Amino acid sequence: MTDKSLITKAARLSVAPMMDWTDRHCRVLHRHLSSESLLYTEMVTAPALVRGGAMHLLDYSPEEHPVALQLGGSDPQELAQAARLGQEAGYDEINLNVGCPSDRVQSGTFGAVLMKDPALVARCCAAMRRAVNIEVTVKCRIGVDDQDPEEVLPEFLAQVIAVGIERVTVHARKAWLRGLSPKENRDIPPLDYDLVMRMKGLFPSLHLSVNGGITSLVQAEEFLDRGLDGVMIGRAAYHQPADLLSAADRRVFGRPGPDTTAEQAVQKMLPYIEAHLSSGGRLNQITRHMLGLFAGRPGARHWRRVLSEGAHKPDAGPELVERALSEIVTPAAA
Ligand SMILES: Cc1cc2nc3c(=O)[nH]c(=O)nc-3n(C[C@H](O)[C@H](O)[C@H](O)COP(=O)(O)O)c2cc1C
Repeated sequence: MTDKSLITKAARLSVAPMMDWTDRHCRVLHRHLSSESLLYTEMVTAPALVRGGAMHLLDYSPEEHPVALQLGGSDPQELAQAARLGQEAGYDEINLNVGCPSDRVQSGTFGAVLMKDPALVARCCAAMRRAVNIEVTVKCRIGVDDQDPEEVLPEFLAQVIAVGIERVTVHARKAWLRGLSPKENRDIPPLDYDLVMRMKGLFPSLHLSVNGGITSLVQAEEFLDRGLDGVMIGRAAYHQPADLLSAADRRVFGRPGPDTTAEQAVQKMLPYIEAHLSSGGRLNQITRHMLGLFAGRPGARHWRRVLSEGAHKPDAGPELVERALSEIVTPAAA
């Protein structure tokens, strides 16, 4: 378990939980680009752990720290048990998902629909906090459907703060639970950053991170300069990991340079890839997260093509990654 003050510091910049994207391999790549940022798992539902016994969902590598486990669910006791399992697995933080737009899955209610029941969210948080020593945090929206965010968000935050939650990330748009797909729900409801900024004024001691539509480190720095405590980046960090993360340690955390280049991150991935392959894994399970590493650089298309065409083949190994890397033109030579 990493010290709480270190996690709080790491939360100045985090990579968002993203199902099917921020799996353990993706997180190792991100960690090689930024040693300071906070990384989130994909959402794991509490029922999958507690009723389903799917403990493999908690697997991660030690180099991922600081790393937070995101849970989905709405049953306080089940979430408490799942949080305990997360703590036992060594996670640094447990985060409750109150933002995912799918309101029901087989395993029950979770996600953004819980914005309608802040008292239940508070009970869930209280139960999780009682169950673990590590920090419990919340990721939420500004509201759902026809709710008025101006009323709903402060009420929601007040209720979770009242049960001891000290850190929240707000995806600064509503989720429209009727009529939009989860993907549309990440783009169509308008962003309201000002509302999130005002929440910092209302709850000055809450550690507040903003999420949604942030596509550059400059934009992230602006939010921090304006007084927010943290910035969480999702899709941009996934699609252009080097652009978002390689300068983060220096620019966001004040660590002396030099920045880790995309090439260095690839080199650092090679032993991890070797280990994955020798334990029976496939190359493309890792390289699928690396396709955007050189986005915008000469040779990026070749990099993507070599990996996309070759990495699924049964005998594909680290030499394919090295060959793809040789297609990249270094800035000095470009
Ligand atoms: C493929 C994908 C999967 C996601 N899965 C989750 C999830 O499991 N839990 C969650 O809280 N948010 C999830 N999100 C939402 C992101 O965490 C984030 O809130 C959203 O993408 C907005 O941030 P961005 O504009 O920086 O991408 C997902 C987003 C994407 C693109």
